[in-house]
Amino acid sequence: MNVVELRNVVKYYQLGKLKVSALKGIDLEVQQGEFLILKGQSGSGKSTTLNIIGGMDLPDSGEVTLAGSNINDFNDYQLSNMRRKHIGFIFQSFNLIPVLNALENVEYPLRLQGRKDYREKARDSLEKVGLKEFMKHRPNELSGGQIQRVAIARGIVTQPDIILADEPTANLDSKTSRQIMELMLELNREQNLTFIVVTHHDYVMSKASRVVELQDGEIYKSAA
Ligand SMILES: Nc1ncnc2c1ncn2[C@@H]1O[C@H](COP(=O)(O)OP(=O)(O)OP(=O)(O)O)[C@@H](O)[C@H]1O
Ligand SMILES: [Mg+2]
Repeated sequence: MNVVELRNVVKYYQLGKLKVSALKGIDLEVQQGEFLILKGQSGSGKSTTLNIIGGMDLPDSGEVTLAGSNINDFNDYQLSNMRRKHIGFIFQSFNLIPVLNALENVEYPLRLQGRKDYREKARDSLEKVGLKEFMKHRPNELSGGQIQRVAIARGIVTQPDIILADEPTANLDSKTSRQIMELMLELNREQNLTFIVVTHHDYVMSKASRVVELQDGEIYKSAA
């Protein structure tokens, strides 16, 4: 089953009088359980593609299908529902809430969903990423790698179909980066979670099910 389908997706940005062509007709199908890597030079359209897949941005033309629903005509409410249900995000800058501890940060998306079992689910999720002992720590009391683990725990806690990660290890040293990548690969294998990851990390590239390269807003090559 395809969890994501992009058909001829075109995206422009207006910069004053200048019209920047960020995506020039992207076709992409991602199957459930894939670990897909998006790579390409700065400005090639990786983040734009990820944002469109995640329903954070809509294309100017083309079709976007997420978990079986065409989202082109969704309103903001429907889009945010779709995101909450199906998508987990892991960002480069972590985006944790500084005044909340690790447990509370991971509980947050569950509480937005009105789930009653948020505490239990958040604990499970933090255990999965190896942070059982650090649940009460606030982000400023954790290392970069630990913070990124919290962000991963928060990304998976709602049991989304798709995890989107935009350069999730860009701010980490090489040893920690490798550990974070291992963790994501393990979650992909063990839980059949679909990952779409923007990265240039060599190790994970060799383990991914597919690497798609963008060049100047187009898919340059797509290797298995
Ligand atoms: N909000 C915006 N306003 C105007 N132009 C934008 C905006 N976001 C992206 N762009 C432009 O769209 C193109 C694609 O940007 P995108 O952020 O997708 O690239 P990227 O591949 O993620 O690059 P990087 O590796 O630097 O993160 C670039 O030319 C960029 O300048
Ligand atoms: Mg980017």
